[in-house]
Amino acid sequence: MRHILSADQFSKTQTEEILSLAAQMDKQCHKGKIQKVLQDKIVACIFFEPSTRTRLSFETAALRLGAGVISAENAAANSSSYKGESIEDTARMLCCYADAIVMRHPKEGMPQAAAKVSTKPILNAGDGGNEHPSQALLDLYSIKKSLGRLHGLKVAFGFDPLHSRTIRSLAQMLTLYKNNEFIFIAPKGLHLAEDFLNGLKAKGAKVRLTDNLPEALSADIFYANRLQQERFANPSEFEANRKKFVITKQLMAKAKAKILDPLPRIDEIEPAADTLPNALYFEQAQNGLYVRMALLRYALDI
Ligand code: CP
Repeated sequence: MRHILSADQFSKTQTEEILSLAAQMDKQCHKGKIQKVLQDKIVACIFFEPSTRTRLSFETAALRLGAGVISAENAAANSSSYKGESIEDTARMLCCYADAIVMRHPKEGMPQAAAKVSTKPILNAGDGGNEHPSQALLDLYSIKKSLGRLHGLKVAFGFDPLHSRTIRSLAQMLTLYKNNEFIFIAPKGLHLAEDFLNGLKAKGAKVRLTDNLPEALSADIFYANRLQQERFANPSEFEANRKKFVITKQLMAKAKAKILDPLPRIDEIEPAADTLPNALYFEQAQNGLYVRMALLRYALDI
């Protein structure tokens, strides 16, 4: 059994193993011949924070592989956590029913706390502004599928690195690969903390900040993300900054970069741009299914 808690936990070899398994899952799905290797397993999905893609793609992944699914959506209100049950006791209970536990929580460190007492693999589906490892793996898969490599890339990240767990996790995972350069673009006050940026540099990545959107769009990949409204202490700061940077159809049409976005989108990409050939974000979300099929197999060692 393997917990999936952090982007930082993976070696390059393990990452390649998961991406290769995801490619097999991708092929099996397209051929319509999926091996039901999780037929006798139950996957629990417990989400204390809203989700469309992560929860439903993990559930689809489990079902496609033949597993059963038990699901607690809106768990903050509808599970016994509402009555004051601890995350550790919640995890102990889920271990009685399921073989793997997919957990999202608005508070940083909760899936990690659950993993300390869990006898079944915990898959972190996002903990506050901290980590989103399954998203980082599907982002890597999407980049590799599109560009054929994960090294020697210029990757721009916008527009809320400070609060974005997807940006933090992807940037960390890209440091497994050589000669990558990161460009961060954000309104003032929304850049990553200096110590996180220094950590990326210490792992060999070139890092710089910019406020020039057309220049950032000349990277190989532009990883856009909405301002994370739910993590702003001051709502007026969110409102003041939410449209500071917008990738319009016109800008995307001129961009060299392939555009990724973990979604949901709010203002960061104009919907009119969605039909352009470098708009990869819906395909990226589709790749989430294959990567999460691979992750369930990896976590259960099947
Ligand atoms: N990318 C992502 O985590 O989306 P959801 O919040 O819809 O799961």
